[in-house]
Amino acid sequence: MAKSVDFIIKNATVYNGIDGGSQNVDVAVEKDFIVAVGDCSQLTAKHEIDAEGLVLAPGFIDVHTHDDLEVMRNPQMLNKISQGVTTVIAGNCGISAVPYLTAKEPVDPINLLGHKNDFLYPQVKDYRAAFERASPSVNLATLVGHTSLRAQVMGDLSRSANDDEIAQMKVHLKTAMEQGALGLSTGLAYYNAKASSTYEVNALAEVVTPFNGLYTTHLRTEFQGILAAMDEAFSTGKHAELPVVISHIKCAGKENWGRASEVINHLEKQRQHQDVGCDCYPYAASSSTLDLNQVTEETEIFITWSEPHPEMAEQSLSDIAKQWQISLKAAAKKLQPAGAVYHCMLEQDVQQFLSYQHSMVGSDGLPCDPHPHPRLWGTFPRVLGHYCRDQQTLPLSLAIHKMTALPASRFKLHKRGQIKVGFYADLVLFDANNVIDMADYSKPQQQAVGIEKVWVNGALSFSGDTQIQTKSEIGRAGRFLARS
Ligand code: ZN
Ligand code: CU
Repeated sequence: MAKSVDFIIKNATVYNGIDGGSQNVDVAVEKDFIVAVGDCSQLTAKHEIDAEGLVLAPGFIDVHTHDDLEVMRNPQMLNKISQGVTTVIAGNCGISAVPYLTAKEPVDPINLLGHKNDFLYPQVKDYRAAFERASPSVNLATLVGHTSLRAQVMGDLSRSANDDEIAQMKVHLKTAMEQGALGLSTGLAYYNAKASSTYEVNALAEVVTPFNGLYTTHLRTEFQGILAAMDEAFSTGKHAELPVVISHIKCAGKENWGRASEVINHLEKQRQHQDVGCDCYPYAASSSTLDLNQVTEETEIFITWSEPHPEMAEQSLSDIAKQWQISLKAAAKKLQPAGAVYHCMLEQDVQQFLSYQHSMVGSDGLPCDPHPHPRLWGTFPRVLGHYCRDQQTLPLSLAIHKMTALPASRFKLHKRGQIKVGFYADLVLFDANNVIDMADYSKPQQQAVGIEKVWVNGALSFSGDTQIQTKSEIGRAGRFLARS
């Protein structure tokens, strides 16, 4: 009698995650795993899917997220699963939900993750237990944020940590690494981390070394001083012998436009000496909390939320300043704490970073923002539809590689990121002729089209344009991925 499996996906064009061609093979899934790739004629299946004309790829890995607390608040994670994302990396840009307990509202930019009552997890093991209870639809692995460490042990964040504080941060970081965190992230451009010295960052990075982790960084500046900021990141990687990932690589600010080749060359040169890479998102606007240092005449800034002036949200800063008849900086100050979208990049630079062989794709989506940057709902379908198919900025096989096998090896996600026998069945089936992002700057919370089916750990979790939400046999099957 033929062996029976859970799913056989037939006739799809299969991209296995490694940059190269595609194959027309059948893929069989049994329980959590891919059990056959190729001839499945000896198998029968509970569910047979004819995927003629569709592409089957490993589930996408969103390497740059701020989903730390979103997976608890909204475990269905529709904004990610509907893009074909099956794994998210949390804890980026120096901010992580762990370790961070606070009696007051969280400091900037940890406030991007949630409100004070959302921060409930003293250690990674507590976070992991809560994750398992919530049973989100996507897998998650986490970094430990430097700014969170600082905010946990220091009162005044406008200075560098002293040796005693560094020692305390090291203890928190070591515990987190022992409990499965992947590495350290920094957000050195942000006010609450800016004053930290390279010495402070290096001392923390050392803790990660024996665990075989990595170092990711939102650079000290993405404006004119970007090369020096990259050198600082490289020096930390060298010092601690850690791989380095430069987060959301970009040339920000008009005076910095057109420098993508220079930045890529700088990175390429360093690749001869150490393990460095980067991630990027497919948009020419950035988004974060409202930062006075980025308020200039030439950057169009859109206000997404404001705590003291919620009525002013969803307007440009220049319009608000006109209404109030004050300067841009004065208006920005009055709006804070606030969120903003900064139209600060050149489209050609974005395309160069996106098509650069060693960049990964990371959304940097901000799930708490009431009017989020469209990257939260659109990143992956936008790369596949807008950039691969319509603009022909990069080939589909390379784009899939950047979303799957490349990040899986970079973050050491065991048996993920490829379509291979014995690997976890994280899979996405999509229509390459039709896939496209629908979210834009004015209507950012729109589901993409063309993602047909998504499996997470062998469980069908998204189908058609609806989500499969039952917590049992199929549906929300995401796991906490501890460093392996
Ligand atoms: Zn960042
Ligand atoms: Cu970020």
